[in-house]
Amino acid sequence: MKATVWAGKNSVEVRDVPDPQILDPRDAIVDITSTAICGSDLHLLQGFVPTMKSGDIMGHEFMGRVAEVGSEVKNLKVGDRVVVPFPIACGSCWSCQQGLTSACENSNPNSWMSEKLYGHGTGGIYGYSRMTGGFAGGQAEYARVPFADVNPFKVPDELTDEQVLFLSDILPTGYMGAEMCDIQPGDVVAVWGAGPVGLFAMMSARMFGAERVIGIDRFDYRLAMARDRAGAETIDYEQQDVLETLREMTGGRGPDKVIDAVGLEAHSPHIDYAYDRAKQMARIETDRPLALREAIMAVRSGGIVSIIGAYGLRRQVPHRRRHEPEPDDPFGTMPRPPLHAAAPRADPGGRHRSDGGDHPPVAARRGEARLRPVPPQARELREGRPRRVTGNATAASH
Ligand SMILES: NC(=O)c1ccc[n+]([C@@H]2O[C@H](COP(=O)([O-])OP(=O)(O)OC[C@H]3O[C@@H](n4cnc5c(N)ncnc54)[C@H](O)[C@@H]3O)[C@@H](O)[C@H]2O)c1
Ligand SMILES: [Zn+2]
Ligand SMILES: [Zn+2]
Repeated sequence: MKATVWAGKNSVEVRDVPDPQILDPRDAIVDITSTAICGSDLHLLQGFVPTMKSGDIMGHEFMGRVAEVGSEVKNLKVGDRVVVPFPIACGSCWSCQQGLTSACENSNPNSWMSEKLYGHGTGGIYGYSRMTGGFAGGQAEYARVPFADVNPFKVPDELTDEQVLFLSDILPTGYMGAEMCDIQPGDVVAVWGAGPVGLFAMMSARMFGAERVIGIDRFDYRLAMARDRAGAETIDYEQQDVLETLREMTGGRGPDKVIDAVGLEAHSPHIDYAYDRAKQMARIETDRPLALREAIMAVRSGGIVSIIGAYGLRRQVPHRRRHEPEPDDPFGTMPRPPLHAAAPRADPGGRHRSDGGDHPPVAARRGEARLRPVPPQARELREGRPRRVTGNATAASH
């Protein structure tokens, strides 16, 4: 099949790659009819997300028709039309049962990497680096969908692809950005970034009852959409001083709720842009958190800051304990724990991945991987945090 692959920093190519195959009874193969590019893909493209490898298939927003199902997938049949959410969730671990599906404890065999970077592991994500499992993405003709009995949802034929595709990521992300604001009648909500995610956040804020929505960006066609689609007032941050304008617009108090829908590659006409960029170039920082800083400065006292923009990390990650770096460590200073509770399983032919690489797609088949005990060394590294053990206990009652 043909797929869009990451070929190195600022380089993507369409290449011929092996077709995906069913590797687990809970897998499905989806014949992709529509796929989208996310602002998050830009962070990959520009090399800000570690652990991408040349040849990795990109894309985490996709939908299509089911082409094949594993023997344990009873809720889907060949020909069903589905949208696939970007986080891969097992549906049965502790996190999934709390509704925290993007923090699934079973779907990411490389969870230890994100745990070291962010303090807690993430679940698997399609086309989003080895750190989130190294799963082949959906900017391709076909994709393998793990836990297909849990993740994809069927869509009726009357709706067009364009009407439902954004359910794979940007609509629920924008919606959640507004939902986290706990919007009350009379609220003024300011949203940094009028990209697709920011626009959906603005529309959702309106839907939750915000009295006024203020959209901030510099691209006029995006600000025009904010005005037309979300009834937002707008600020062009290249033409106006954002903090001053927001104060003026809110009687000196500041917006009640603020949403960062920009993330780590923020831009600014001010000097701190050069400062952040220099630190990024020198690899001292991965982020240029200009919009986030401004949002925090702007929000009224006692207001809410909702962050949906994606951030990386400082290179010098604060460790609770320091270890000697290993030569093959993708993060340079990152210690590698001995193993993950969801142990990798053999990868016949590398058919689930873009490059036949070294990490398996998903280890956690029902009951099996999750029941593996965490070895004493791993527990020691985690300093007594029994998160995996909790997951195991949950699985044991499954
Ligand atoms: N949390 C999640 O699950 C999730 C999901 C999808 C996207 N995201 C993240 O959300 C962010 C937005 O995604 P997108 O697809 O809309 O991206 P995008 O790149 O299309 O939009 C970002 C917008 O921010 C604007 N911007 C840059 N600097 C700014 C500043 N200082 N003030 C105001 N606006 C500024 C840009 O002009 C651009 O229009 C990205 O960081 C993306 O990674 C997170
Ligand atoms: Zn995305
Ligand atoms: Zn789970």
